[in-house]
Amino acid sequence: MARAQLLFPKDFLWGTATAAYQVEGNNTNSDWWVWEQADGRILHNQKSGLASNWWANAEQDLDIAAEMGTNAHRLSLEWSRIEPEPSVFDDAALGRYREILQAMHQRGIEPMVTLHHFSNPLWLVEKGDFNSAVVVDYFRRYTAKVVDVLGDLIPKWVTINEPVVYVFMRYLTGDFPLGQHSGWSGVMGAIPNLLGCHAAAYHTIKEKLPQAQVGVAKNMAVLQARPGSLPLSRWWAGRVNWLFNYMWLDSMTNGRLYFPFGRRPIAHLAGSYDFIGLNYYTRFYVNFPPLGGLVSDRWEPGAVVSDGNYGEVYPAGLFQIIESLLPYKKPIYVTENGVPDKADRLRPSFLMTHLREVWRAISFNYPVMGYYHWSLVDNFEWDRAWTQRFGLIEINPETQERSWRASGRLYQEICRSRSLTSQQAEKYAPELMQTIFTGSDPANYRADFEAFLAAVPDVKPMEDDRLDSGG
Ligand code: BGC
Repeated sequence: MARAQLLFPKDFLWGTATAAYQVEGNNTNSDWWVWEQADGRILHNQKSGLASNWWANAEQDLDIAAEMGTNAHRLSLEWSRIEPEPSVFDDAALGRYREILQAMHQRGIEPMVTLHHFSNPLWLVEKGDFNSAVVVDYFRRYTAKVVDVLGDLIPKWVTINEPVVYVFMRYLTGDFPLGQHSGWSGVMGAIPNLLGCHAAAYHTIKEKLPQAQVGVAKNMAVLQARPGSLPLSRWWAGRVNWLFNYMWLDSMTNGRLYFPFGRRPIAHLAGSYDFIGLNYYTRFYVNFPPLGGLVSDRWEPGAVVSDGNYGEVYPAGLFQIIESLLPYKKPIYVTENGVPDKADRLRPSFLMTHLREVWRAISFNYPVMGYYHWSLVDNFEWDRAWTQRFGLIEINPETQERSWRASGRLYQEICRSRSLTSQQAEKYAPELMQTIFTGSDPANYRADFEAFLAAVPDVKPMEDDRLDSGG
């Protein structure tokens, strides 16, 4: 029988992704640790505890990543370990990070390192954290230390993970520490300082390591009005889409704040990124008036929804968003993409369909350079703790025992062959044979993308003041 194969470029990076607080365990100097201890904050009052035990033994999972055939991994550093008190740097912690980074290189796994992934040193909270402009200097100093001690081992950097998600969760919804509901004033106070931290880190890294590639990991979701919505909802969906998906990129591109975050330029921000890291998970509908939140978790009939109503599985959105990033003219890495699916019911087909979208983008010569699956192993999923499992490898947090999910084996076949094949589909997701390899109709994708563009007037970086005129 004929065999189909969708090949990826030779130098494509095949990766997985994790974050320090979610895998290391015992991060007792972090604001998350204190936050977790009180009842009612984390689902079922679960605790991170040892997490995935990486502080003691990241190497066992790096062995697995190597066996899986990956050649890249995105991890983060825990600021609260490196600088447990203001200006006091912990050499032992830096030494341990050196070991982990070296272990990656020894296994042929290229590190991409995130400096800030949702977690802060406790002392930063006392200084006013991202609502206070002093954070920029602290972040610059922390970055400089990391560059000095670990920089030779880090070719790719992410300054801040999902800044917009972070400020929403921290200041608006109260789901992240410190449980604040400081409303838009908290969000608006933090955005300029976070952009300042990003710019400071970017230049601190580039001054010492001009060859390093530095970017940001930006969560981007398809945000659109429901089909058939009134014009007001479509207009509103366009605003929300720009705010959530493109505002940060436009600010980094043009070096300034946009309404409603102010209008001033931010020093050294313009052009301060070498690549776009895209974290893609799902699509949401947006309605006007925004009753009950900005986005709706009511799916259309027939939608495939992952564990705990996390979101709709919507692979076409990955291509749509990649295409919408072309005007920024930067290399793109998919720095996160995954699904909470303890039983591994959806993940095999999730992997193949999303990677098919990446392959399709590459076949149009779009500059997608790598893919980091979230996640290598099950880990502590923030306020949803152990109820949502994203790992290609399953972990029992009580015994720390590992077992390969079928999707882990599938990713191994994909990474090792650098391709998607009809045999993989036959073996792991037979329902995909039709859509991926035989009967797919590119016209469907085009129609989807056109609907997306129609709902979204502002996907280009804005050089003008179109948005300001509204405020
Ligand atoms: C975050 C991760 C998180 C993942 C799954 C991303 O928004 O960067 O920390 O675990 O989504 O929810």
